[in-house]
Amino acid sequence: MKDLRGKTAFITGGASGMGLAMAEAFGREGMNVMLADIEADVALKKVEELRAKQIKAECVQVDVTSRDSLRNGALATIAKFGKVHLVANNAGIGAGGPFGGVPEGDWDWVIDVNLKGVVYGMEVFAPLIESHGEGGHFVNTASMAGHISPGGMEPYCATKFAVVAMSEGWQQQLAPKDIGVSVLCPGLVSTNIYAGRRNRQNTVYGEKGKDFGQDNLEQQRQWMAGGIDPLVVGQRVVEGVKDNDMYIFTHVEYEGVVRERFERVMAGFDKSKQSPALNTLPKDRRLDVPPGAR
Ligand SMILES: NC(=O)c1ccc[n+]([C@@H]2O[C@H](COP(=O)([O-])OP(=O)(O)OC[C@H]3O[C@@H](n4cnc5c(N)ncnc54)[C@H](O)[C@@H]3O)[C@@H](O)[C@H]2O)c1
Repeated sequence: MKDLRGKTAFITGGASGMGLAMAEAFGREGMNVMLADIEADVALKKVEELRAKQIKAECVQVDVTSRDSLRNGALATIAKFGKVHLVANNAGIGAGGPFGGVPEGDWDWVIDVNLKGVVYGMEVFAPLIESHGEGGHFVNTASMAGHISPGGMEPYCATKFAVVAMSEGWQQQLAPKDIGVSVLCPGLVSTNIYAGRRNRQNTVYGEKGKDFGQDNLEQQRQWMAGGIDPLVVGQRVVEGVKDNDMYIFTHVEYEGVVRERFERVMAGFDKSKQSPALNTLPKDRRLDVPPGAR
């Protein structure tokens, strides 16, 4: 999407952090923005702040763990702005812990928000974008945790690796429909994600774990404050959307650790090439690498 002016962006998790920053960055490009967030009161305040900056903003309460909720959000956006062109599937929460110590319910919570929330956003909006024929773009927020996997972050990394993988596939499938797909992969950004547990649906995911990590919130807040300014991320996303980038990175200093991971993966191939077991396979057997993998 080269020309953003007058088009409409729907942003999940739009009331805070990177979602709000994307809304501001899209708004500065002349887009209408819909903040879709589970925190309706905060979203309303943020709409006022964006309007004070001459940005056409609206908000709608959405819980991305519900396909119906996203569908209602889409209908509300179409009622306000006519069409949706750009969707940022960005709402997300953090979950993790020592092996065996991830709180009960957190696996489901993080998968529902970070992974299935993105699936629902794609499946609800792609047909709507396709139907107006003006093209569009999805920005799915993953993380550097979608490329590297530090111990203790398995639930979060599982969802973020999945968002990277799904986005790579969707980019191939939606390109012929003039719909671009990018995956946003930031490192540390100064946002409110450290306090994400406030939005945990405890009635669904259980009471155990509802207070997990809440005892050192101030420490986490200070650590997050060392991250980069979300507005820079928003501006980088605008660049990435205009250039139809598959991967939108914001922390280039991670290049080395990602390369090292690939090298460890490649070393696994080198080792397997020496395998006596594999060397018993017929040399002329069919190769099953799917065409889309290249
Ligand atoms: N902050 C970082 O360092 C960082 C790094 C990499 C990736 N990310 C990812 O960026 C995205 C945005 O997070 P952030 O850092 O801006 O955090 P944030 O907490 O500031 O913003 C997240 C927003 O999502 C909303 N939200 C939570 N659950 C929701 C639900 N079920 N339905 C709808 N909205 C919901 C929250 O109310 C909040 O407004 C997340 O996907 C996160 O995983 C963050």
